[in-house]
Parts: sequence; structure tokens; C-alpha cells
Amino acid sequence: MADIRIKNQVRPSYYKNPDHPIGKRIEDLLSRMTLREKIGQMTQLDVTLINTTGEQKDIELDLKKARDLIRNHHIGSFLNGEAVPARTWHRFMTKLTRIAVEESRLGIPIIYGIDHIHGASYLEGATVFPHNINLGATFNPEHARNTGKVTALESAELGHHWIFAPVLDLGVNPLWPRFWETYGEDPHLASEMGAANVDGLQNCSETLPHRQAATAKHFIGYSDPRSGRDRTPVHLSMQQIHEFHRPSFQKAIDTGLKTIMTNAGEISGIPVVASYTLMTRLLREDMGFEGVLITDWDDIGKLEDFHHTAQNFKEATFAAVEAGIDVSMTPLHLDFNESLLELVEEGRITEERIDESVRRVLRIKFELGLFEHPYPPDTAPVNAGSPDNRKKALEAARDSMVLLKNHDDVLPAAKPKRIGLFGISANSKRNFCGGWTLTWQGAEESRFPEQMPTLFDALRSEFPGAEVTCFGCNDVPGLSGSQSEQKEFVAMLNDFDLLIYAGGEEPYCEFAGNINDLRLPESQAGELKLLSKAQPPLVFVLISGRPLIVTEQIKDSDAMLFAGLPGFEGAEAIAGIISGRFNPTGRLPFSYPVHPNHFLPYNHKKSSIYHFDIDNANQIIQKEDSYTPYPFGFGLSYTTFRYSRFRLGTKTLLQKGTLTAEITVTNTDSREGTETVLWFISAHKGRISRPVKELKHFEQVSLKPGKSAKMSFTITPDHLSYPDENGKPILEPGTFSLMAGGLKENFCYEG
Ligand code: GLC
Repeated sequence: MADIRIKNQVRPSYYKNPDHPIGKRIEDLLSRMTLREKIGQMTQLDVTLINTTGEQKDIELDLKKARDLIRNHHIGSFLNGEAVPARTWHRFMTKLTRIAVEESRLGIPIIYGIDHIHGASYLEGATVFPHNINLGATFNPEHARNTGKVTALESAELGHHWIFAPVLDLGVNPLWPRFWETYGEDPHLASEMGAANVDGLQNCSETLPHRQAATAKHFIGYSDPRSGRDRTPVHLSMQQIHEFHRPSFQKAIDTGLKTIMTNAGEISGIPVVASYTLMTRLLREDMGFEGVLITDWDDIGKLEDFHHTAQNFKEATFAAVEAGIDVSMTPLHLDFNESLLELVEEGRITEERIDESVRRVLRIKFELGLFEHPYPPDTAPVNAGSPDNRKKALEAARDSMVLLKNHDDVLPAAKPKRIGLFGISANSKRNFCGGWTLTWQGAEESRFPEQMPTLFDALRSEFPGAEVTCFGCNDVPGLSGSQSEQKEFVAMLNDFDLLIYAGGEEPYCEFAGNINDLRLPESQAGELKLLSKAQPPLVFVLISGRPLIVTEQIKDSDAMLFAGLPGFEGAEAIAGIISGRFNPTGRLPFSYPVHPNHFLPYNHKKSSIYHFDIDNANQIIQKEDSYTPYPFGFGLSYTTFRYSRFRLGTKTLLQKGTLTAEITVTNTDSREGTETVLWFISAHKGRISRPVKELKHFEQVSLKPGKSAKMSFTITPDHLSYPDENGKPILEPGTFSLMAGGLKENFCYEG
């Protein structure tokens, strides 16, 4: 039934009238849809099925292919692509939308999904922020909010509405090739950062009437594979899922999150996509999520040919839909549509179940205003890479730098005249950005923006009076050579004032980044060892998605900066830290591993750090923080701070009471600085073993020299509870410690 014609005046169908409540518009539209049209709204296909060459980089619409999929198969969503100019995206999205809105029977708009996870990174000229591991290191949710807001600003004008961000997995396994997509290992930090990013993405008023839907991913428990390799088995109890992996998703849901993407892997033998327990009981019933649940890439197909838990694709479709998915990112064929149609016609899946998912998809499309504003704005795209947007990205990169060592205050560098620069990232742009940048795996150098400085460029700008020599760049020989040549080389370096080694990783994404050894590659270790023999101070800058094992290299260096993947503005951020223009404020959002086969998050259990000393066989030794000199929350500044006057308002917290703690932070230096105050709670006992400590609150304070600030944190019994295997909070009387700034005070909860 198309629009109803009255007296030569076409009255728009009820669902097309924005004056009507969304709930009623959904029901009106649903009542008009055929089963095939409904299943089409549950399907997302890849851009390669509708472009002219079948390659990701080709953002040119093949009208014939697109018409067939939209008009005959009713497909409601597409995804992906690579960085192209804004006008190319604008033209592509306009044509694609026109087919759906003007040539299909019901005119249901398309929703286009894209991995703009650190800026609109599939847009030429976009602002590209640091990746989440860097944002976590800032301990400042405003940087995550700004990332979301700028991404929305630069995506909306292209017609992109479904942003596949933020990643809310926990960075608990440094081998994992997606470690850098996380906000780090802590549930509270990931919760605060993720919720801010969702807010920035979904509530960016400047893009109105165009809105974006965020996507929390990958639900759930994806990030701690025992092998360290992507999409390999994870072993987690439901209690661990509730306590550690649920909080970041829960906070995002409570912030109004519109969509969630599944974890492609298995947990304790059950692929998440086939788990009713996780995708319906936990996500819908316990966590209250009412938005759209989309699978990850070919997750349904993986049940057949990767996990081998489904006999064939049709059985895999049955399992996934029964478990609770709403949309299949199929994404390269129509088997999902055909299988689901058969399953409904056979009565194995009811049409009511289909309607449940279609309602959620339509709700998102109505809430985003797609029926009223399906096309990209007809004004020319103007936001990409604007100075204001790039300034936000620089601020995030600047605040994400973690200074791990600064022996004899070699930094900030005192006006060096000759700087020697070395390493694979000395003159690289791509190494600063990792995956999901211009292309899935990170594009080749030539595709990066002309105006994006390398570290070599940034150092020359930062130290205009100095001579910066980049060894291994252009025609300058690197560090190779015979023993005698190297000896001469080192002797020659003694004429320099500062040596900077920019090492780490080249870009990778997902399983392409699987490794067997977390240590810094031998070639880089050898170069650093050689440089350490020269007299000038040696600054080691690690530009890497993972905390590579650099225990020896830190010893051999005078200063060490963990720069993570700082994005397009990262080189300036690093140069500014080295010159002292920027005072480092970054803190590790993870525990930096020291040994290749011993990774422990800071919130490990007491029994994790059990040392058995044969000479003291009768004594259990459990030294806290004994497993790394660079624990979660560690980071140096050019300013020193002192903590004092740690006071608890009371030593006893009552059942319905509160306990306010205060601590004074003083800038004891001659330079203004920003300190991040981390508040941890440690439960001395628990029916279920308790982490040695847990971050419960963090707050930043900027202080001028000599100034002090009183910081406070009010504890309620909720801060002491933890979930059981059913997610039910346990709150036990007992003794607790509150820690901040290296100080500790005990209190008890009487319950
Ligand atoms: C990938 C990733 C997911 C991404 C999706 C679409 O496999 O796991 O994070 O959003 O496919 O590109």
C-alpha cells in the first residue's frame, strides 16, 4: 500500500509523518512490510557488492547492483569502504539513498555502517585522533567525547550514520592485536571513556538534524584469548564477565547507546553469537539493552566454518537469530536472507521473532531522523580536518604521552644544537596511526595527508635552531655496518646533543597483527644497544599499539616515552614533550609487562603474585606491585607533586551511609602541572576472591607551582559490592583499604 491519495492530494503514509509517535510509526510501517522486506532490514552487506570494481577502495556506486539488492532483496544497510574525498562519499551516499528512498516500495532509508573509530578515518583530509589506548592514558573522558563529536561532525556530512565505535573490550592481554583499540585494562576507566565517546558520537548538536548511532563492541569477553591471538578461545566465568567485562557496556547502555556489535569469538566453548545466555538473558534482561545487536563480520558463517558448532549456514542462522541477533553483517552474500526466510516458512522461527528485530532497526532509523533527512546535507562538506578539530586531536595526543623514565631530567631537552633521530618511525606517518586508518590495515605512506608531519618534520619545527639528522631517512645511512664502522659511528654520535630513537610497530589490524613474541624486535633492540654506547642522552620513543617488552631498552635509555598510536597529530605531541612545551600528563592505562610470558593486570587476585621462596618455604610472599615497575596509573611529569593529609570522614561505613575521604595534592615544583588522582579500594576478604585493588574514581587537577588542592571522594556501599555469577551484587561487611597517591587508610563496612 503506497501513499494514500485523497482529493488529488497525496497524504503521506502514517509512518512517514514525523508528527506521529515513533512507536506508532514503527507499527504502521511494520504492518505494511512483507516477510522478505523485514528480513532485508536485518541484513547488512559490504560496499564491494554495490560498487563498480568489488574493491574496498572503490566508492563508486554500481546502480544496477545497488538497485537489485535494495529493490529486489530489500537490503537495509551497507558498510565499509576506504578513505576517499568527502565529495566522493557524498555522491555515493546520495545515489545509494535515492534508490532506497525513491525507488523502493516503502522508501525505508539506508543506514550506512563505517569504522570511524578514531575520527572519520575513511575520509580523506579527516581529523585522525589517537587510538583508544592513548585516550585511556589521558584519564580524561573529554578527549573521548571530543573524538566522538569530531567523528560525528566529519561523518554526518558524508551521509554516514552508523559509527562502529567505541571498542569497550578491556586491554588485559598485551599480545592481543586489538589491544590498542581498547581504553586499557580497567573496567571503570573503560566505562567512563566509552560513555563519553558514545555521548560525543550520538549527541553532537552541531550535526542536527543528522544524527549518528554509536556501536559498543565487541560484546562480550573478546579481549583475553588464552593464546593472545585474535578471535581465539577465551575462558571466562559468568562471574568474571559480570565483574570485569560488563561495566563498560553497561555504562554505555545507561548513556543511551543505540547499537552493539558481537564478539566473533567463543567463551568457554560457546560462540557468543550463538549464546542466548549472553545475547538475550545478559544483554537484554540483565543489562536492559533495547537497541540493535549486529553481528561482527560473517559471525554467522563462522559458526559453520570457524567454530564448527553449526552443521551449515542455515543452522547457523537459526542459532544466531534464536540467540538474539537483530542484524547480520553477512556481509558478502544473501545466504542469511534465504536461510531466514526458509526458517520462518518452516515455522522454526516465528514472524513475531523477526518483528522484534525489525522494530529495533526501524526505531534506530526513525530516531536518527533518517525518514525526514535520509540524504547527506546538501551543503558542501566543510568540517574535515578543520583547525578546531585538529586542535582537539593534538590535545588528546599531547595528554596521552606517558613518560616512563627521565633519568637526570634529560627531558625536557635543553636547547639541543644537534639531534640524531633513528628508528622505523622516525620519518613515518602510517606507524603513528595503526589500523582503521584510511584503510583497514593502515594505508601506505603516500596516502597520508601532505600536511601531516613525521617526527622528523615535527622535531625540525620544534627546534628551529637545531640541526636534526634523521639516520635511515632519505640518503642518510642508518645504523647498519661492520663492527669497526659501528664503532666509528658511535664515536661520531658523540658530537650530538641528543639522540632520539622512534621504535615500535608498523600498522596491523585484527588477526593480521597476531604475534608469538611481545619483545621489541631484535633489530630495534640491537640499534638501541648500539646507540646507548654513545655519550649523548638517549630518548627512546615507543610508537606501538602494544606495550612491547622493552625492559632492557629502558635500562639502556636515559628517557622513555610510551607514545602508543597517537594519530595524525602525534608527531607534534611527541616533539612538544621532548622540548618541554608540553608537560607529560599521561598515565599507563595498563600494567606494562616486564617479562615475555608474565602478564598481569593491576587488579589481579592476591594469589596471582604468590612467590615461593625455597629458603622461606613456610612463608607465603605476596608483594604487591612486584610484577612491574610500571604499573597501571604510572606516568612521570616535569612537575613533582606531593600527597598529604589523607583523611577519612569516618572509619566506619554504615549500610546506608557514606564515607568521604580527602587528600591534599601539592605542586612542589617550579612548573605548573596536571596530576591525575587515582582512588583505589582494596577489599581484604571476599567470598569470591577480590582483586588486590580496584580503581573506583579518578580526577585531574592542574596546579601552579607551590599551590595545593584538596581532592575528595565519597564512598558508598555500592563501591564495595561486586557481582556473583548471576550478576547479583554481593555486599559483605569487612575491612577495606582506600588508597590514593601512594597513601593508604583502612575503614570497615558494617553492613
Ligand atoms: C571487523 C571488526 C569490527 C568491525 C567490522 C566491520 O571484523 O571486528 O570491529 O567494525 O569488522 O569492519
